[in-house]
Amino acid sequence: MITAVVYSESGGTYKTTMTANLAVALERMGQNTLVLDFDPQEGNLTSLFDAGEHRSDPDADNLVKHILDMPDGEFGDLIETTAEGVDIIPSHDMLGDFTSNLEQKISYETGMQNMSRDEYPRFELLYELLWERENLHEQYDAILIDPNARAEDLLYNAIFALRTLVAPVKPAGKGNLSLDGLDELVGNMETQLDIEIGLSCVVPSGVGQTNAHRQYQQQFENTAEFATPVTIGNRESLMDAMWEARGSAFKVVEERWKTFERDGEMVSEPGQRRVRDREIDTLEKLYELAWFIATQTFDADVDPVLKLEIDGHENQQIELTDDESMEATTS
Ligand SMILES: Nc1ncnc2c1ncn2[C@@H]1O[C@H](COP(=O)(O)OP(=O)(O)OP(=O)(O)O)[C@@H](O)[C@H]1O
Ligand SMILES: [Mg+2]
Repeated sequence: MITAVVYSESGGTYKTTMTANLAVALERMGQNTLVLDFDPQEGNLTSLFDAGEHRSDPDADNLVKHILDMPDGEFGDLIETTAEGVDIIPSHDMLGDFTSNLEQKISYETGMQNMSRDEYPRFELLYELLWERENLHEQYDAILIDPNARAEDLLYNAIFALRTLVAPVKPAGKGNLSLDGLDELVGNMETQLDIEIGLSCVVPSGVGQTNAHRQYQQQFENTAEFATPVTIGNRESLMDAMWEARGSAFKVVEERWKTFERDGEMVSEPGQRRVRDREIDTLEKLYELAWFIATQTFDADVDPVLKLEIDGHENQQIELTDDESMEATTS
């Protein structure tokens, strides 16, 4: 089973974009994939995938109620299936109050059981839900979480349950990429949670064409400290269009979504985007990233051929081979 938390200490490092694209790539590889959205803010994975109709209804059953083992319905009813086949457990406003709800539960239960608060396994609740109560490993091949780095209780629950991190990094300033603190942070989490945490890979993203950006990219790719299977370029137009297409970068390219001005207004429509080599190249990289995680980190057996059915264009088949070089054919 493939399980990963897409983690970054800083905000805006393209986590949500990456989670969506990875999930769709895994699904396209034949992996039945579920994503969990832990971010209650606007611009989260739930809105990207156009899910979570009841996310602001305080009475609606939601993931928090299930994590706290006080469900209002069936767990399966929380799951929605997106247009690209990925399943999602959407965000809910209650995620923003997770810690205070958890504290109440801990007060109640430790009071009943004459247990000290420190003994309460506060970071193990998601683990128990996913693997012990719901047996999701029997239903899914891959589970990804888009966490909320500022909410420690939820983040630690995510990491305790999934154990593996994928870390996107974004160039700052002149293009310097930095993972300062990641090692230390992983070490702290391992001590605090008493588990081993694996870093699958680091993914420099939004990397530009300047010399400074390239130098940092090479430094990252050449280090032996962590794996850097791919670098994702600066693809603002492609990735921003995902929010209009309500889906992955694969969908944007295949359905050719584009945002443009018409009669003084910005509109977004399918069938309008030009097919650009560099965007196809980015899809290959995303597929290769998913392939790396699936085969190198988890030893899964996945389909190495990326098939693109681009509206009004010839279909493309891109095969990832063992030496990681790519062979492209058109048909
Ligand atoms: N490779 C890329 N190049 C340029 N822009 C990108 C790239 N990937 C994503 N973006 C854009 O950057 C913005 C922020 O991305 P995203 O929402 O994925 O970040 P995030 O890390 O989830 O942010 P937050 O910390 O707020 O949750 C989006 O508008 C997205 O379209
Ligand atoms: Mg996000």
